[in-house]
Amino acid sequence: MLRFLRSSAMLRAQWVKSYATVAKEASIPDPQTSPEVLYTDIFINNVWHKSESGRTFDSINPTTEETIAQVQLAGGEDVDFAVKAARQAFKFGSPWRRMDASERGRLLYRLADLMERDQVYLASLETLDNGKPYNMSYNVDLPLAIKNLRYFAGWADKTQGKTIPMDGDFLTYTRHEPVGVCAQIIPWNFPILMMAWKLGPALATGNTIILKPAEQTTLTALYIAQLVKEVGFPEGVVNVLPGMGDTGALLANHQDVDKVAFTGSTEVGKSIQLASGNTNLKRVTLELGGKSPNIILADADMDYAVEMAHFGLFFNMGQCCCAGSRTFVEDKIYDEFVERSAERAGKRTVGNPFELNTEQGPQISQDQMIKILCLIESGKEEGAKLVAGGNRSDDMPGYFVQPTVFADVQDNMAIAREEIFGPVQQLIRFKQLDEVIVRANNSNYGLAAGIFTKDLDKANYLVNGLRAGTVWLNTYNVLAAQAPFGGYKMSGHGRENGEYALSNYTEVKSVIVKVPQKNS
Ligand code: NAI
Ligand code: MG
Repeated sequence: MLRFLRSSAMLRAQWVKSYATVAKEASIPDPQTSPEVLYTDIFINNVWHKSESGRTFDSINPTTEETIAQVQLAGGEDVDFAVKAARQAFKFGSPWRRMDASERGRLLYRLADLMERDQVYLASLETLDNGKPYNMSYNVDLPLAIKNLRYFAGWADKTQGKTIPMDGDFLTYTRHEPVGVCAQIIPWNFPILMMAWKLGPALATGNTIILKPAEQTTLTALYIAQLVKEVGFPEGVVNVLPGMGDTGALLANHQDVDKVAFTGSTEVGKSIQLASGNTNLKRVTLELGGKSPNIILADADMDYAVEMAHFGLFFNMGQCCCAGSRTFVEDKIYDEFVERSAERAGKRTVGNPFELNTEQGPQISQDQMIKILCLIESGKEEGAKLVAGGNRSDDMPGYFVQPTVFADVQDNMAIAREEIFGPVQQLIRFKQLDEVIVRANNSNYGLAAGIFTKDLDKANYLVNGLRAGTVWLNTYNVLAAQAPFGGYKMSGHGRENGEYALSNYTEVKSVIVKVPQKNS
């Protein structure tokens, strides 16, 4: 069957085409539909450990609702042990601190190479544990993660300070030094990619790491931990602690952690910032939720705009912090746009994520599915017009939700304000540019925005007016290692990716030197 699909036109599913910048149309190797789970323990000092408390938690396959594996749960003692290991690895004079920056880069390049070597296995394991289509794990998540590590490997020996003239007989030069022991808490929507985004800049700049993957998707992080060991990173430089939110909170509240980098919900982001204030003022960078506007002007190419607005929302089962979840469509084309969007959603292929033509797999968990279904109900109750989907796909097991489209959505409805994080598109009508700028910005979030138009003046006017960390112009959801990504307002602070990400992981040391002006 898979072989048939690979050779058939179905392989060139629409989403692959519209995502041509990342996904290649080249043939995809068959997935391993039952990848063996090799690691389920806690990774500290390059050694696998059982939890001190003896506690474990289940990793669930969201496609079948079955348990894949039991994973060791890191509690207080394990967290202390990991922090000590990371602190020891960071000590002045340690192998890691003495290592040439270019050698740190070489280790990162090697980690990328091993992920590429094991790309089929890693993509298959990601699909098993997360439910995202293998086509996407293999063609999008893995290549982006690998490129990210290579991008930051290149930065390792290029993080330069400045030489600064000073008043008097002095000069200053700056050194960009690692922050120290960094806790990195990541979510389940892009498990491998988020791990790469976090590891790359932190390791390039010489920090040590305690990474806590999301409890829903621990398995690929643990496999990559084994690759870290195979690469030859010194012990204690990268530690991986599987666990629930409590494990993350222990790290956020730890007195001997120098920095927390977090991606996830705004609610938890706030608690992490508070924990910093209540303990040692550890550095905090946050990448949180969004309710991003995607603005379609009447002059946009209709076919392309419908497809891209669809992709901007439904990509990754709608589980994207930057999802275009408020699609503002200009009055003149609104009715046709609604009709075409509903039609497109109806054609979306939902099902087994290991089948190569599947566009949409299950949501990550029962909790998330219920949250989404509740918001769909609120949309119906508040009077939005349901034009596609609207229910759980109950003809199969797994946490599947029908591709859903609402029209006539008003700004004050819950579906227009809250992050749904699911396959639910909101189509909102607007008339004027100034009006849409105000309405688009009328949100606590400010992560991303999209604009579709051929009119350069209107495009630039909107770019100027929108309060968002990324604005996509005539495209959506394009992410790359080189381009900074992060939020305004309650979408967080700090920028990941690009040169900007390096400053999240470095302290600036001013060295002030006496330079005598005459020979005494
Ligand atoms: P979450 O924010 O609770 O989980 C993300 C990570 O934080 C996980 O590793 C989790 O174990 C950890 N965590 C949970 N509580 C913590 C605490 N008190 N201290 C430290 N770490 C903690 O997100 P959840 O519950 O999985 O999803 C809830 C909503 O958050 C979603 O419906 C979605 O709206 C949003 N979300 C946003 C993401 C993004 O990419 N910005 C990713 C995941 C969720
Ligand atoms: Mg939570």
